[in-house]
Amino acid sequence: LRGLHNLAKAKGRYFGTAIDGLQNNNDPAYQALTGNPAEFGISTAGNSLKWDATEPSRGTFTFTSADYHLKWAKDHGQLYRGHTLVWHSQLPNWVSSGGFSNSTLISIIENHISTVAGRYKGQLYAWDVVNEPFNEDGTYRTSVFYNTIGPAFIPIALRAARATDPSAKLYINDYNTDWIGSKSNAMYALAQSLVAQKVPLDGIGFQAHLIVNSFERTLPTNFQRFAALGLDIAITELDIRFKLPVTDALLASQAENYQYVVNACLGISRCVGITTWDTSDDYSWVPSTFPGEGAALLFDANKSPKPAYYAVANALAAA
Ligand code: G3I
Repeated sequence: LRGLHNLAKAKGRYFGTAIDGLQNNNDPAYQALTGNPAEFGISTAGNSLKWDATEPSRGTFTFTSADYHLKWAKDHGQLYRGHTLVWHSQLPNWVSSGGFSNSTLISIIENHISTVAGRYKGQLYAWDVVNEPFNEDGTYRTSVFYNTIGPAFIPIALRAARATDPSAKLYINDYNTDWIGSKSNAMYALAQSLVAQKVPLDGIGFQAHLIVNSFERTLPTNFQRFAALGLDIAITELDIRFKLPVTDALLASQAENYQYVVNACLGISRCVGITTWDTSDDYSWVPSTFPGEGAALLFDANKSPKPAYYAVANALAAA
């Protein structure tokens, strides 16, 4: 294996992966693969930088597992993507139960960002500052942030992140925004308005949690319109799941789908890189969330590369 990150690097991009629960991981084969900088040049924490992990009670911050992961990534020659500062999910009760005035919640957001992003100032490639602000129909998602502050919570969070860590690329990140549709149109309108107002924003993250053969083939056109706003594009949480059991035909379709997504990135000069949402199928979030589905990643449970791995490598290697 020449390595996905090495191949991506030759094209001016990165290839990365996400990892969770590293501190308690006792799987040397998994760690060797996930920590191999030839395959993965950038690492994302699956959970340990989320609000419930970092500020479980108001003003009390815990960084043990995020610190451990960041050091591990550095020791393995990897950059680090921060995920995520302001999100409606995995929020501790003291935040999600609400009851705050507008100005109190703003100061809670600003304090959270200055403390969490401040701890890692200068050390992260990027932050997903705001995660998943939209519903499928393109309306804003109900959350304590939106309900209390309105859509202004987004520029407030971005400004706080820029003030705290000026060298981190600042992203808004969402899923089902990969193709053209109501949700990506809403993200585009938001991005356009933030750029017009000169709110600090460097990129849009496309999670790309996809289902084999069940997405619209408009990724390149969609990515291009965001790039035309002067923004970076990143594929941040790629996986392509299907209904088990695994068959050769499904693995072949999955490989073709992965190749399509990689080519969609390579076709856009502002697409900076691709991260898969974990490394091998035995670590994927999919089976526990969608019972009966899985096998969504590039490596199987034996940490062996799947057809999708070779499809990605070929796409990255092509002239
Ligand atoms: O930490 C507790 C543990 O103490 C407890 O024993 C165990 C029992 O269920 O749960 C553990 O928490 C789980 C946590 O992952 C850590 O493993 C939560 O139940 C579980 O809900 C949580 O799932 C995470 C999910 O986000 C939550 O929304 C997944 O690991 C994580 O991969 C997933 O990642 C999200 C991205 O952040 C945003 N985009 C979608 C993506 C996939 O859902």
